[in-house]
Amino acid sequence: MSSDSNVSTINQPPISISIAEEKDLENLIIYLSQKEVDNAFVKPLSERPISIRDRVFRDFKEGFWLIGKDEEENVIASLAIIYHDYTAECSTFSISPLLRGRHIGTKILIEAEMILQSMFPEIHMIVIDSWEGNTPVKKLVEKLDYKEINRYVDTRKRPQGVKTITYGKDIK
Ligand SMILES: CC(C)(COP(=O)(O)OP(=O)(O)OC[C@H]1O[C@@H](n2cnc3c(N)ncnc32)[C@H](O)[C@@H]1OP(=O)(O)O)[C@@H](O)C(=O)NCCC(=O)NCCS
Repeated sequence: MSSDSNVSTINQPPISISIAEEKDLENLIIYLSQKEVDNAFVKPLSERPISIRDRVFRDFKEGFWLIGKDEEENVIASLAIIYHDYTAECSTFSISPLLRGRHIGTKILIEAEMILQSMFPEIHMIVIDSWEGNTPVKKLVEKLDYKEINRYVDTRKRPQGVKTITYGKDIK
């Protein structure tokens, strides 16, 4: 699968982006369980009410995962997507720490939009969750025309004093 976007691919290592198959899930769990990947989430995924393993299998069952792989087939990026009621909810968005800031995240979200529009032509909205202070996500999604649609306290997912921010893009 390849994306046809205007995103600069200069300095981007060769990455393949695909919908995860069942055989990819163990590698996805290994990827998300790496300390530096886990700890980049606020709260870390391992401190949420659902374990990383259960999260990976739940979202595979209820939706799908887009994953990035390097040339050695290691998982280096993730995005979970669940579609319901004309809305796609994106979560667990992650790029391997050493590869951040090279527009791979932008490329994956653009790829997600194209896949969603082809799988669900009736889709109205794509939403993505983040948290206060997450500048990379804010910059990334605002460049792709997402707008903040909600900001709320969510003590299950966030530490005290940090609100969840939901960004949405109307694609009717
Ligand atoms: C959020 C994340 C997936 C973005 O992936 P990425 O590949 O690094 O993003 P991109 O390179 O496409 O960057 C998008 C924009 O944000 C900017 N950006 C990236 N990292 C940044 C940083 N640390 N501070 C400020 N801006 C940053 C980029 O410069 C780019 O803007 P530009 O086009 O003007 O250069 C990645 O940073 C990550 O894994 N973060 C940890 C987990 C997380 O926060 N997940 C999101 C919540 S679900």
